[in-house]
Amino acid sequence: MDRIRIRGGRPLEGEIPIGGAKNAALPLMAAGLLTDGPLVLRNLPDLADIATMRRLLELLGLRAEHDRAARTMTLSGAATHLEAPYDLVRRMRASVLVLGPLLARHGRARVSLPGGCAIGTRPVDLHLKGLELMGAEITLDGGYIEARAPRGGRGRLRGARILFPQVSVGATENLLMAATLAEGRTELVNAAREPEIGDLARCLAAMGARIEGIGTGRLVVEGVESLAGATHEILPDRIEAGTYACAAAITGGAVLLRGAQAEHLGAVVKTLQEAGVVVEETAEGLRVSRRNGLAGVDVMTEPFPGFATDMQAQFMALMAVAEGAAMVTETIFENRFMHVPELNRMGARINVHGASAIVRGVPRLSGAPVMATDLRASVSLVLAGLAAQGETVVNRVYHLDRGYERVEAKLAAVGADIERLPG
Ligand code: UD1
Repeated sequence: MDRIRIRGGRPLEGEIPIGGAKNAALPLMAAGLLTDGPLVLRNLPDLADIATMRRLLELLGLRAEHDRAARTMTLSGAATHLEAPYDLVRRMRASVLVLGPLLARHGRARVSLPGGCAIGTRPVDLHLKGLELMGAEITLDGGYIEARAPRGGRGRLRGARILFPQVSVGATENLLMAATLAEGRTELVNAAREPEIGDLARCLAAMGARIEGIGTGRLVVEGVESLAGATHEILPDRIEAGTYACAAAITGGAVLLRGAQAEHLGAVVKTLQEAGVVVEETAEGLRVSRRNGLAGVDVMTEPFPGFATDMQAQFMALMAVAEGAAMVTETIFENRFMHVPELNRMGARINVHGASAIVRGVPRLSGAPVMATDLRASVSLVLAGLAAQGETVVNRVYHLDRGYERVEAKLAAVGADIERLPG
């Protein structure tokens, strides 16, 4: 298994290109199930999760042509097989996003339950309750979700008013896709407002879906009989941008994040600024730098536009070397502090009390062999390694490869002493 070795202490200087958003690309690929296509997705990141979703769509019967050099995927055809197997869903939770599209277009679907994962139990009850409100009959059998469109409704789901008791990105996406082909009008209330949902909705609209309220917490969809193909440019990855912003900040460097947009980052920009990081918007992207000390700032993760849970681990690495204390509260996922013991092994002073972590800044971290069990936790250890004295080896790099394209190449290009050790 590959590892990443970092020798810390070099300020990053230069430019990092920001790729297309993984969390937009995955639902957009699932939207390929709603049409014969072709659905052409541009600015597609080259990541392990994208390869997993492609494998799943091909298994369902779609054609997927991936032109890596052009960063484009073209999806066409219709599903011929309506089951998403355990082996793929287990590897990537976002596989459950095929449920809504399959059910809406083919009237039935069988999708493995994702089960637990490293950052908590993460149920899919909101996805299933929403589909039931749209008339689906859902049973659980042998670890699989078996879903059928209502009998007598010509195999189509029915529009419904769905009020989410809790904001869920995945449930909003699944039900939004299902609603595009349902009979009548669907209203999604307390819908997630993450930029990736706006991106999905805009692509669906280009395919012929009738959606109002894009970018708001209330999406209204008027179902249509069928959707056509479209060409869509995936928005830049705000979490990749935020991660490299923390990398510039933790090393006291100055980096242009090419293509990044402040409006997608929500509260993350303001929080970095409060901590003493300079973030400037330019026509080419965000310019992030730090010349002075870092100040401890309290943060609480919240649905967009609040501080993203996917930035919590990276921000904690930054706070580990700030002056003073910071309280980091995680409200979205239970058990999302797996990076804490590893950061502490590098000399950080962090205590967890329930859903909050108190981070007492230290002047310097020291390199160590570390590993983490999820994507964002792993990258937080890379950030800590960039600032630490001595050598850090991050094990289990496959987590990083799920969500960061060529992380070591991008960081090396701006002056980090970092390399991948094939294992
Ligand atoms: C998506 C992102 C993930 C991000 C998360 C929160 C993708 C592929 N993944 O995950 O990177 O960390 O949003 O911004 O876009 N919940 C339920 N029942 C459900 C669904 C969710 O209780 O049916 C809970 C979850 O356990 C969690 C919270 O709702 O506590 C938010 O989860 P959700 O927004 O659904 O996250 P994902 O879509 O899985």
